Amino acid sequence: MYEKIGNVMQSILIKNGRVIDPSQGMDCVTNVLIENGRITGFGMRPTGKEREIDAEGKLVVPGFVDLHTHLREPGFEESETIFTGSDAALNGGYTSICCIPNTDPPIDTPADVEFIQDQAARADHCNVFVIGCISKKREGKELSEMGYLARTGVVGFSDDGSDIENADLLRRAFEYAQMFDLPIMCHTEDKNLTNRGVMHEGCVSARLGLRGIPSLAEDVMTARAIMLAEYTKGRLHLMHISTSRGVELIREAKKRGVNVTAEVTPHHLTLTDDLLVSFDTNLKMAPPLRPREDVEACIEGLLDGTLDCIATDHAPHSAEKKQREIDLAPFGIVGLETALSVLNMELILKGRLTWPQLIDKLACSPAKIIKLPSGKGTLAVGADADVAIIDPELKWTVTEKELRSRSKNSPWLGKELVGRAVCVLVNGRVRLLRR
Ligand code: DOR
Repeated sequence: MYEKIGNVMQSILIKNGRVIDPSQGMDCVTNVLIENGRITGFGMRPTGKEREIDAEGKLVVPGFVDLHTHLREPGFEESETIFTGSDAALNGGYTSICCIPNTDPPIDTPADVEFIQDQAARADHCNVFVIGCISKKREGKELSEMGYLARTGVVGFSDDGSDIENADLLRRAFEYAQMFDLPIMCHTEDKNLTNRGVMHEGCVSARLGLRGIPSLAEDVMTARAIMLAEYTKGRLHLMHISTSRGVELIREAKKRGVNVTAEVTPHHLTLTDDLLVSFDTNLKMAPPLRPREDVEACIEGLLDGTLDCIATDHAPHSAEKKQREIDLAPFGIVGLETALSVLNMELILKGRLTWPQLIDKLACSPAKIIKLPSGKGTLAVGADADVAIIDPELKWTVTEKELRSRSKNSPWLGKELVGRAVCVLVNGRVRLLRR
């Protein structure tokens, strides 16, 4: 039900949409002109030469930028590939994604980075940026060749999936990454405190007899990462923050002027740990779903700017791996294709967030955090025409068939959601068009 148009650089006029671009404080109904892959103006009338896209009743926004996508290639192609993952991104309104290096082998050499860049170019779906490993082979023992990785254009460093246990190594990483003005992106988790837990430690885990993961496992490492960033004056980006204490720690750190940014996932903003009564392994992720107080603290943090952006932590796992007892199933859920819809239903339609606020958190702010090359996360004149057209009222049901990700491990499977991208342009070319 979609069309992909080839390589022709055609002028395009997106007509009569509600154009929302928080990067320039824009929210009005107008036409957007795209020429040679870039935004060239607003309010122009059709001349008959452009391809016209009717966006009446729709939102025209900067394409979303995801700072946290697991593409699984190389090594876990049964779960996702660069082709399928970047296609899933388009299906969710994303025009840029940053892939996490916990692949096999991990992305810790320039050749690994170039492999991803080549595969992404071949797939030709959306922009794929690469995050390099902090430590060699993600073993937490020795720093990766960060300088060489920086030269290939990585946008940050992370050992996501686990934390760096050795605080001295993390300190060196902060110091070294400063030379390249790149962020250290921290998955904050003390695995000793996690201690084979499978869900948040609290009343629900006690009732279900499931081993719990205390909030402390995240919070002590969030505090440590902030202290190291403060000490070294390095750039810290905190991944998938999920606790009220974590939000408080970041709020205080920002007040002190620490160079820290943070992301929160759609699931930590919309789901709670009591859902685990279903024992659905598609509710098992790291960090785990938390109680309502933590969800509320994350929403508050998002609203007051403590949490800078929303990132999916799109973590595909094949059915063979996920359809096991909850103790054995891997952590993680897919998220690229449902993020917009669930955030619309749970935050916008419930009056917690406005569209401009949400677009800022999904597109403008993430682009700024990793200092993407000019023209991403904005519709400013001269910017790359990475654009999503959203139908805020479109209802759709999450089915395995609707998801383009190779894995279907979504807690929203079978649910009807509202709001979806209907057209996505990347560098001025239509890459998704839903009819
Ligand atoms: O749920 C998660 N899954 N959290 C992580 O940090 C890693 C990810 C994965 O790679 O599956």
